[in-house]
Amino acid sequence: WMSFNGNHKKFKLCKCVFLCFSEKLLVLTVATEETDGFHRFMKSASYFNYTVKVLGMGEAWKGGDVGRSIGGGQKVRLLKEAMEALADQEDLVVLSVDSYDLIFAGGPEEILRKFQQANHKVLFAAEGLIWPDKRLADKYPSIRSGKRYLNSGGIIGYAPYINRVVSQWNLHDNDDDQLFYTKIYLDPLQRETLNMTLDHKCQIFQNLNGAVDEVLLKFGTGRVRVRNTVYDSLPVVVHGNGNTKMYLNYLANYVPNAWTYENGCSLCDDDIVDLSQLKVSYPNVLVGVFIEQPTPFLPEFFQRLLTLDYPKDKLNLFIHNNEVYHEKHIQKFWEENRNVFGSFKVVGPEENLSQGEARNMGMYYIRWLAVCEMLLSFICSDGITISPFCLLLPYRKIIGPLVTRHSKLWSNFWGALSLDGYYARSEDYVDIVQRKRVGVWNIPYMAHVYLVKGSVLRNELKERNYFVLEKLDPDMAFCRNSREMTSHREKDSPSPESFHMLRPPKGVFMYITNRHDFGRLISTANYNISHYNNDLWQIFENPVSVHRSLSDRVFVLQPCPDVFWFPVFSEKACDEIVGEMEHYGSWSGGRHEDKRISGGYETVPTDDIHMKQIGFDKEWLHFIREFISPVTLKVFSGYYTKGYAVMNFVVKYTPERQAYLRPHHDSSTFTINIALNNKDRDFEGGGCRFHRYNCSISSPRKGWSFMHPGRLTHLHEGLPTTNGTRYIAVSFIDP
Ligand SMILES: *[C@@H]1O[C@H](CO)[C@@H](O)[C@H](O)[C@H]1NC(C)=O
Ligand SMILES: *[C@@H]1O[C@H](CO)[C@@H](O)[C@H](O)[C@H]1NC(C)=O
Ligand SMILES: *[C@@H]1O[C@H](CO)[C@@H](O)[C@H](O)[C@H]1NC(C)=O
Ligand SMILES: *[C@@H]1O[C@H](CO)[C@@H](O)[C@H](O)[C@H]1NC(C)=O
Ligand SMILES: *[C@@H]1O[C@H](CO)[C@@H](O)[C@H](O)[C@H]1NC(C)=O
Ligand SMILES: *[C@@H]1O[C@H](CO)[C@@H](O)[C@H](O)[C@H]1NC(C)=O
Repeated sequence: WMSFNGNHKKFKLCKCVFLCFSEKLLVLTVATEETDGFHRFMKSASYFNYTVKVLGMGEAWKGGDVGRSIGGGQKVRLLKEAMEALADQEDLVVLSVDSYDLIFAGGPEEILRKFQQANHKVLFAAEGLIWPDKRLADKYPSIRSGKRYLNSGGIIGYAPYINRVVSQWNLHDNDDDQLFYTKIYLDPLQRETLNMTLDHKCQIFQNLNGAVDEVLLKFGTGRVRVRNTVYDSLPVVVHGNGNTKMYLNYLANYVPNAWTYENGCSLCDDDIVDLSQLKVSYPNVLVGVFIEQPTPFLPEFFQRLLTLDYPKDKLNLFIHNNEVYHEKHIQKFWEENRNVFGSFKVVGPEENLSQGEARNMGMYYIRWLAVCEMLLSFICSDGITISPFCLLLPYRKIIGPLVTRHSKLWSNFWGALSLDGYYARSEDYVDIVQRKRVGVWNIPYMAHVYLVKGSVLRNELKERNYFVLEKLDPDMAFCRNSREMTSHREKDSPSPESFHMLRPPKGVFMYITNRHDFGRLISTANYNISHYNNDLWQIFENPVSVHRSLSDRVFVLQPCPDVFWFPVFSEKACDEIVGEMEHYGSWSGGRHEDKRISGGYETVPTDDIHMKQIGFDKEWLHFIREFISPVTLKVFSGYYTKGYAVMNFVVKYTPERQAYLRPHHDSSTFTINIALNNKDRDFEGGGCRFHRYNCSISSPRKGWSFMHPGRLTHLHEGLPTTNGTRYIAVSFIDP
């Protein structure tokens, strides 16, 4: 007929085109609550312009805990009710999907096309694991390849056929939906008359349970998909069934357009609160500070709380301190600042609270303080962190700033969980820590510092013993409580009656943001509090906090020929070194006889204390190697220092004892000389004169070091200190 009846052919083509476009897709989903997962589902649906009808919203959930056991009958009942009105719409394709743990990766046209290619009236999602009745395995039709078993999380079909399937439902809300569909599918007669099959090769539906290793993210232009590498397919519906919810969260950090190489984070500014619009009513924040063990640099941490860019009267402080050692720091901070904050509560070591109990108390405290809308929790037991915290406020129910150990991959979040619930590295972990991918990331675990919305504590997590769960540490407990709602209660109350009362997992999403550089984690390992100034000894654990960092901004002056001058120590480090020496107190008196040195005789003696005498020589040499050696390389190019020094000491100049030092050479290749206090404030006079160049440095700067060659060229003297006391730290390097 082709040659005789071209018109007819044209007509047929037209009809097909007409049919293709006349078919409509309606998405039906059951959700009784607007969980974070539900919102995510709806967001992905609206991105692709799906038409979605939500069934059961606001209804009490009676379908059991579908994450862990059988249940879900309520879903079929609601679908059955909805389908009654749609039963005669022959052109309507209905897609019934879960929504708490599911996202779209493609649009409705693609689904319709793939559904037509499948050439069946009803298509179920498939998976490799059989559930809930393993005995039915033999009854499944055999297939050559692909996933063999039915999963009820995704069903697509023509409305009349879907109706014929679900109208068979006459069970209870807590009976199992998947078992119901499975039995219909496994009935050969029904399978044929209802023209049903499974999406064996994940053309439309990707169930992640048992298939995590099969899928990869596929980055396209402005769009990210999931690719199934086994079937080489691009599934449209991605379902985190079983215990793959965390993996779905990971995928959904990208799919469909959450983060792309081209545009970065596209959802980061969702739910943003413009703080400048809020001038009248900034949210009240409870700042929980939990000090569970001796923690370096705690006074600095408190000072930084004062610099938070936020109205202080809106900040309410709750400090749990479990360490007698820190009581003096807290006392001081309280005395100076108790009226600065909205309120200020301290729970001390005498309460003998466990970490979890203390954290719970902080959480309950936010309820007593009915005005508080947020909890900012700093967990100092693992180090101190701080953030430009206003930048956190706008976001999600639970959000933490990314903080890392200095120049390490160690951070305060996990990108993935192992099967037993502990650390696993996600593919994107390093990129997030190094801020090569910047955004707001849904993650399974975070610690140390986070912000929780008060409403979450009062609602979603209300019944939870937030921070105490089995033997988990408090952060683990909190994160698991946030991720899932039912697992341990299920264990506590195994009876079927109470079981029916369970609701689906609330899965409050937790986010970490690395959109800004929020701060550092400090190591508390090896914090020895038996010294006089303990933070000084942190040069190995927390070097950057001890002195001013040289690495990012070295600036070196040259006040005299071959005399270099550069900053090394913070004010605090200087004060602590001086304090440490005065605390030790045994100054040598500047005598020629000196038992501390080999030979026992010093020709140019100073009134000093050796680093070794206070047990600081190891730390001091470390400092020389880490922070002085790089400067040496810059200024004496070609010279590689061994960073070795025997003579490391602090000198005290004062008119009452020794005021100056006569001209001399040092027994070193080069010498460093660090001013530990301020001219004109702490002493008058002082300085250093280099004879060969007739050049003096009369105004040393506190925390700055000189570096000059020791022998031959740099004959020098210590100029008289005329009033007060001058302190310098000296090392003869490479003697
Ligand atoms: C959804 O609809 C809007 C408005 O018609 C359109 O601009 C947008 O491109 C559509 N989105 C997709 C993914 O097709
Ligand atoms: C299912 O329906 C399609 C048409 O939609 C038909 O081509 C196919 O043969 C049917 N399959 C079975 C097993 O009946
Ligand atoms: C503190 O609590 C622990 C465990 O709860 C208990 O073993 C210990 O005796 C308590 N200490 C004091 C001083 O009450
Ligand atoms: C802590 O410092 C003291 C005093 O210097 C020292 O005696 C002690 O051995 C140190 N403890 C540890 C565990 O290093
Ligand atoms: C050293 O310099 C000072 C001024 O800086 C000058 O007064 C003095 O004469 C100089 N001495 C020598 C020996 O050059
Ligand atoms: C030394 O300094 C103190 C305090 O700054 C001052 O009172 C005193 O007059 C000074 N003495 C001399 C000799 O300059």
